[in-house]
Amino acid sequence: MQPTAYENILVEFPAARVGLVRLNRPRAYNALNGPLMQELMDALTALDSDDEIGCLVLTGSDKAFAAGADIAEMAEATPVELAQMNFIHRWERLREIKKPVIAAVSGYALGGGCELALACDMIIASETAVFGQPEINLGVIPGAGGTQRLTRALGKALAMEMVLNDRRLSAGEAVQFGLVNRVAPVESYLQEAIDLAAAIAARAPVAVRAAKDAINMAFETSLAAGLAYERNHFYALFSTEDQKEGMAAFLGKRSPAWTGR
Ligand code: CAA
Repeated sequence: MQPTAYENILVEFPAARVGLVRLNRPRAYNALNGPLMQELMDALTALDSDDEIGCLVLTGSDKAFAAGADIAEMAEATPVELAQMNFIHRWERLREIKKPVIAAVSGYALGGGCELALACDMIIASETAVFGQPEINLGVIPGAGGTQRLTRALGKALAMEMVLNDRRLSAGEAVQFGLVNRVAPVESYLQEAIDLAAAIAARAPVAVRAAKDAINMAFETSLAAGLAYERNHFYALFSTEDQKEGMAAFLGKRSPAWTGR
């Protein structure tokens, strides 16, 4: 895929089969306004349908992943206007991305920025990362998943403190509480995310997508229904060339050559 010109994001290809989207509104700490979110979702959707890409990385700047939804854009809005402009609804498109999305987070991940990171599949944080939901200071609450995903990730007590009283998590706390995969120095967190993405992108693509889908189902359903869902994916993978290749390679004591079919 050729790089496309966007105004609020940059799309790069830093490693084989890896697509990187960089939020790029530095003057507003990457505040997530409508045009930025539209471009972000368009870019992720395009990368998701590109067969040459196996895994996506989403990042901001070293100073700020994103400082939240754009307060200036919504300050005077009515509920009807927010609904008409699809203010939060467009975020749902992230849930439809089938390839893994890794957030590389440094600096502020506040409000919608924290929610955007939480909506990704994994998070690599820099030592300066700060995760928080300060919406209560604005007289509102998180609107793009914070109350739901933080509660699932951290449990009720800490989620309550973060959302009701603007308790922020340092990178060290975030890794301790299982919110992020690992923490790296500012100089290398993005490369770590890219390396992880490249490693995943080198694996059997259909199985990777099935694995992501099955894990996400754990948040949507009962254990019995989730187990049935997983089992169906497992059986279905036996219709792929990559399953035959993977098992033949193991038995033949050689490396598999995946085709994504
Ligand atoms: N929306 C719009 N503009 C923002 C912004 C946001 N979320 N965050 C920062 N900016 C802008 C500031 O208005 C400022 O612009 P000007 O230079 O034109 O005045 C610029 O970015 C720099 O910000 P500060 O001067 O405040 O910089 P700082 O270093 O003193 O503080 C900060 C940085 C701690 C991130 C602070 O800007 C801040 O607290 N931002 C707001 C964080 C927030 O409340 N986020 C939640 C938003 S609501 C939401 O996200 C709803 C949802 O769930 C979807």
